[in-house]
Amino acid sequence: MKIADFRSDTVTRPTPAMRQAMAFADVGDDVYEDDPTVNELQAAAAAITGKESALFTASGTMSNAIALKVHANPGDQVLMDEDAHSMVYEVGLPATIAQVLTLQFRSNQGVPDAKAILEWVHPESLHTPRTSLLVLENTHNRAGGTVIPYEVCRDVYNMARHNGVAVHIDGARIFNAAVASDCTVAQFASCADTITFCLSKGLGCPVGSVLCGPADWIARARRVRKMLGGGLRQAGILAAAGVYALRNNVDRLKDDHCRALRLAEAFGTSTKIQPVSAKPATNMVYFKTTLPAGTVCTRLAEQYNVLCNPTALHTFRMVTHLDIDDECVEMAVSGLKAICQ
Ligand SMILES: Cc1ncc(COP(=O)(O)O)c(C=O)c1O
Repeated sequence: MKIADFRSDTVTRPTPAMRQAMAFADVGDDVYEDDPTVNELQAAAAAITGKESALFTASGTMSNAIALKVHANPGDQVLMDEDAHSMVYEVGLPATIAQVLTLQFRSNQGVPDAKAILEWVHPESLHTPRTSLLVLENTHNRAGGTVIPYEVCRDVYNMARHNGVAVHIDGARIFNAAVASDCTVAQFASCADTITFCLSKGLGCPVGSVLCGPADWIARARRVRKMLGGGLRQAGILAAAGVYALRNNVDRLKDDHCRALRLAEAFGTSTKIQPVSAKPATNMVYFKTTLPAGTVCTRLAEQYNVLCNPTALHTFRMVTHLDIDDECVEMAVSGLKAICQ
């Protein structure tokens, strides 16, 4: 029986072609930097982001943890959106692993205001902690997969640099941002010192992220990755999926965006269920319902084989990805119409 799984773009399973690439990957011991496929992935990621160097990591969370630890010392202040993934979903790692103070700013649907953030930057003094890092999330997950436009990223970066603050982009879905705008991944990445992107989301890989930045910074990141238990050995089996995805799974992200738009547009005039954004920017649709979101999601799963997650009492999220086809969208639309009529 077909199940339409809209819970996240992390639920994709590798295609036969991706598995083939993984099965026949050349491998070596990556802690010795001997794995040719990891090296190939890292070189490709550095080229795509326009950075000097790159590091394969186990996950987006690990990349963000490494970025915080390398950019900031314990006790430093790190600026991030109050709804950033690192604030909400990374089990408090800024406080525990990186031991930094987070200064949370409000954004407009994920889009920050460079001037407003400037107010928060502390110069180092006898009394105040140093503000050493600003984190941008692009696309912004909890804001609905919104894209922070290039011009905004550039203004924020200029402001940060002017004040001696480094910028890290949590670009878990930066390829979605690039495909949805007329801006390349390298242009977005040029607005930050470091950037990470996930292979295991829209790009359809089973595991992994890549952290990109200056060569000396990545050398320090490599030591922190080892400290966190992320020094993998014959990791080329995993990296091969990434190499495959960068070649084959980027352009198709536009199909995910079209399907997200179709989902949102199907409920344009309903009073009982409404997309939070009438035109979702990328592959996420947040819906508001008059019924409790938990009830809607349970009934969708039990009666229509459609999976999605509540995000608040009356809000739930649907994410399109490689394993969501047109039939899945039809299943979701007809199920939701029947439940929310
Ligand atoms: C914006 C963002 N950053 C980071 C992560 C963490 O990625 P991972 O699940 O690979 O740890 C996610 C995961 O959904 C995310 O949405």
